[in-house]
Amino acid sequence: MNAPLDSTAADRQAHTPAPPPVPQDALIILPVRNLVVFPNTVVPLSIGRSRSQAAVQEAVRLERPLGVLLQNKPDVEEPTPEDLHWVGTSVGVLRYVTAPDGSHHVVARGLRRFRVLQFLEGHPYPVAQVQYVDDPERVEPEIEGRAQALKERAIETLQLLPQVPAEAVAALQSLNNPGQLADVIANLLDTSVEEKQALLEIFDLKTRLDRLLELLARRIEVLKVSQDIAQRTREAIGDVNRKHVLREQMRLIQQELGEGEEAAEEIDELARAITDAKMPEEVEKVARKELKRLERMPETAAEYSMVRTYLEWLTELPWATAPEAPIDLAEARRILDEDHFGLEKVKQRILEYLAVRKLNPSGRGPILCFVGPPGVGKTSLGQSIARATGRKFVRVSLGGVHDEAEIRGHRRTYIGALPGTIIQNLRKAGTRNCVMMLDEIDKLGASGFHGDPAAALLEVLDPEQNATFRDTYLAVPFDLSQVMFICTANVLDTIPGPLRDRMEVIQLPGYTAQEKQQIARRYLVPRQLAASGLDEKRCEITDDALALIIDGYTREAGVRQLEREIGSVFRHAAMRIAEGSVQRVVVGVDDVAHILGPRKFEPEVALRSDIPGVATGLAWTPVGGEILFIEAARTPGSGRLILTGQLGDVMKESAQAALSLVKARIANVDGLEKSDIHIHVPAGATPKDGPSAGVAMFVALTSLLTGRPVRRDVAMTGEISLRGLVLPIGGVKEKVLAALRAGVTTVLLPARNKRDLEDIPADARAQLKFVWLDRVDDALDAALSPQVAESPVPAEATS
Ligand SMILES: Nc1ncnc2c1ncn2[C@@H]1O[C@H](COP(=O)(O)OP(=O)(O)OP(=O)(O)O)[C@@H](O)[C@H]1O
Ligand SMILES: [Mg+2]
Repeated sequence: MNAPLDSTAADRQAHTPAPPPVPQDALIILPVRNLVVFPNTVVPLSIGRSRSQAAVQEAVRLERPLGVLLQNKPDVEEPTPEDLHWVGTSVGVLRYVTAPDGSHHVVARGLRRFRVLQFLEGHPYPVAQVQYVDDPERVEPEIEGRAQALKERAIETLQLLPQVPAEAVAALQSLNNPGQLADVIANLLDTSVEEKQALLEIFDLKTRLDRLLELLARRIEVLKVSQDIAQRTREAIGDVNRKHVLREQMRLIQQELGEGEEAAEEIDELARAITDAKMPEEVEKVARKELKRLERMPETAAEYSMVRTYLEWLTELPWATAPEAPIDLAEARRILDEDHFGLEKVKQRILEYLAVRKLNPSGRGPILCFVGPPGVGKTSLGQSIARATGRKFVRVSLGGVHDEAEIRGHRRTYIGALPGTIIQNLRKAGTRNCVMMLDEIDKLGASGFHGDPAAALLEVLDPEQNATFRDTYLAVPFDLSQVMFICTANVLDTIPGPLRDRMEVIQLPGYTAQEKQQIARRYLVPRQLAASGLDEKRCEITDDALALIIDGYTREAGVRQLEREIGSVFRHAAMRIAEGSVQRVVVGVDDVAHILGPRKFEPEVALRSDIPGVATGLAWTPVGGEILFIEAARTPGSGRLILTGQLGDVMKESAQAALSLVKARIANVDGLEKSDIHIHVPAGATPKDGPSAGVAMFVALTSLLTGRPVRRDVAMTGEISLRGLVLPIGGVKEKVLAALRAGVTTVLLPARNKRDLEDIPADARAQLKFVWLDRVDDALDAALSPQVAESPVPAEATS
């Protein structure tokens, strides 16, 4: 069994082809990484790679020259033909030395310039067929002249160099063959390998001589300047220590080049700034290290400005903190009251928060988060807190931030990298004792391709982590624990959970018309007067006019639109006064209509008709409460329920449930199986989902099927169960305020929401009648007119 196996192994051995002999017109190639060999020169070569050792040994054995080729990529281990320059010099090996440490070296003499025609396959080392390119034997006058000039310049150069042996000059003197002269000088030339390879590749002797003359001329210039400098530094400083000498030399070189003065000044300035910044020790170490790097860099290097920018960031950050001014609660209350009307509960909670902070300044209190519709004063409360605590206020807008780097910064290796928005704003604030408002935290982009911005923000807000917040750009920790963070949001549910966990949420649901009137009177009117260049002496607005603007021209939970409309009214007044037609303007109801045009909003209840089947529901939206109409109609059909108005799934289910409840209650409706019930919720900006329309749907359907219209001035909200229970809902205050704005007088609410009533301002409560629902049936008496409508219901006429 063994024999055949053995014999195959033996066969294989026998058949391994011996390398073919190297043809006469070919050379064994020795690739080198950082050296160009010229003909007529003697050079030492280290032979590191084993393939190269084999090549050299084979050449020595065959007594053949080697072809030396420069690699175009020095770090390639086993160069292929593409990795080599195809012009080189053949060399003869004069000596082959194996050093005691095992390394191999040869001393070689450059013989002839060659060009590779093709590489030959099948050898254990590179072998190439080559064509030799020799310089002409006959010397023409133009070459002679150039060679003479070159020799003179070369000797001049050698004399400028500090440590050149006299023999070198003598050797050059004795060289008379122009080709040889060119090769020897090219070899001596202190220039890059690429430059030397380029020289080697100039086959035309005249051109090569010209190029050499040019290079030498440049070299001489440089040498002269540096000798001059050396002379001057020597005179300037005698012999102090060497480092100093070098720095002085660099300064003079830079001066010679017309730079430097500024750079040195800049470095001094940065060094001072580092001291002044009072960074933590660890950070200062980093800064000093970078500064040292900067010092050694030429000012023109691309990295120079990167490092400088980095140092500027480091030095301009508020590392040192002024001691926190103690919080004066009485003063804080005064300021909060001065800046904002009403909001008693909110102010109370802010003061409690400040009190805790006062008693325990280093404490890890929660982060305040104001949640509410636009224009209710979230941002301005934040500013007020800053004022009340004597802190700087900075605002960071997070809306639409979907890239983690926007918060945490980019790595410094990016072109144009900067710190993230947190650090940028801290620099702006100039102190760590600031109030930093993180606006629109609910509109933070989701985590995705660009990392998770919420996770980065968590690091900012979490008191456990934020003492060592690490911005990617700075790459050193920065202590954020003294920053007072306040977040704002329109809605709570889109705030990422872990973030919400660390917040103390304070709701600002919106204002009643009365509150708006007060805010306008006390804050918006004076502010807009001033903005229009007026004062109370010259312009006034009546209460009725304000009320009309609030009712007829704005529909919002906050007061932003209101302020804008007041502004336009005053601008109009300012124009009349500026024209000189009047001295003083009193803006009344008629003027408002005149200036602002026809009213933009009617009380919504007036839009309602008395047709049975329409009920007024109340919805919660991020911009405050809204009323919405639920319309039900009956058409000939086959007993289906049709839902339109782009309702969400939850709302559709409420509709089904409402219909089932109605059917169970009024069993004796004729022909229900021959008609479809159609429920529609007219389009509008209100998002139409959520369970709280259940009661309104039930009432609308009952109204439709009994012919009893729903009272115009009644609005309702509540979730229903199939057993007919009314379940509690959220957003009571917003919904009640919306009802009031719309002109509703009676509001039907789930009985289990009674406890929310205390959130509603007393004046609003006084204007409304509340009916508390335990069961759906409780809604009917309050909502439906007692008598059946006189106008015939179209659907019923057909059935
Ligand atoms: N209770 C108030 N008293 C006095 N001024 C108020 C009150 N509420 C709001 N304002 C004023 O209304 C304007 C709008 O408020 P602000 O910009 O703070 O709204 P916001 O809640 O931050 O809204 P957004 O969500 O759109 O950012 C501000 O000029 C603010 O001073
Ligand atoms: Mg705001």
